[in-house]
Amino acid sequence: MTDATQHPAFPQDFVPALAHLKRRGFGETLPAVALILGSGFGDVEQEVVGPLRCPYSDLPGFPRPAGTAGHVCRVSQGALWGTNALVFRGRYHAYEGHAPRDLAACVWVAHGLGARTLVVTNAAGGIRQDLPPGSLMAIRDHINLMGVNPLVGPQRLAGASAFPPMGAAYDAGLRGRLLEAGRGVGERLLPGVYAAVLGPSFETPAEVEMLRRLGADAVGMSTIPEVITGSALGMRACGLSLITNRAGSAQDSHQQVLQVGTENADRVAGVLKALLQNLGPA
Ligand code: HPA
Repeated sequence: MTDATQHPAFPQDFVPALAHLKRRGFGETLPAVALILGSGFGDVEQEVVGPLRCPYSDLPGFPRPAGTAGHVCRVSQGALWGTNALVFRGRYHAYEGHAPRDLAACVWVAHGLGARTLVVTNAAGGIRQDLPPGSLMAIRDHINLMGVNPLVGPQRLAGASAFPPMGAAYDAGLRGRLLEAGRGVGERLLPGVYAAVLGPSFETPAEVEMLRRLGADAVGMSTIPEVITGSALGMRACGLSLITNRAGSAQDSHQQVLQVGTENADRVAGVLKALLQNLGPA
């Protein structure tokens, strides 16, 4: 792979990380997809066959993972259900205090390694009535209420990308394939609007009511910075949310999010498998 694939605005801070990965063979074969795994779905990474693997902590200049203790944060490349995939296990959250651009570190690196299709997963609180815990939502649009945008900073994208449109941030064709993948494995995915807040506190009932009136169907604390960056870089993106709780309920807890995530990880994996086997051209 040559550096010609690298975006002209590739952040200098991530150059050493990208170089490190390339030295270890990442990107030598072109990844058909970059997959970012949300809370509870990390085990999907175990399915990668013949993987190259690298912990984020080995990547020079890469943000320090501030993840929950005991969580593995690493990137792998290999055959995931027959598809050449880059798999990011662990992501950067705004509530951990990272610089805006660092929230999309995985996306920059994925793009630098040649991935042009981005599949993002997350756990989210359900707002719409027909999205109880255990539901699967295909993100059709988002509302960014994080108070941060990953494209903010002194080193901006240039030209037309300086103010990138977000009218089609979630690729309709890829979302169609995601919905089809769900149908293929007997899962009913509902399209919906994902709102992201800064966190780390969960929402009050009044905030959930506000989000509902704004048009949000589910709420979380991730994904949007990754999709904004991917879309600005010209990647086709789609997002899959597992609803783990009813947003704004008194019992909301990170424990529940992880538990429902783990309990439903096989269903999420089944949908991802069907999607990866029918990704279509980027
Ligand atoms: N709110 C915000 N983030 C979340 C939630 C929620 O209810 N559930 C899972 N992630």
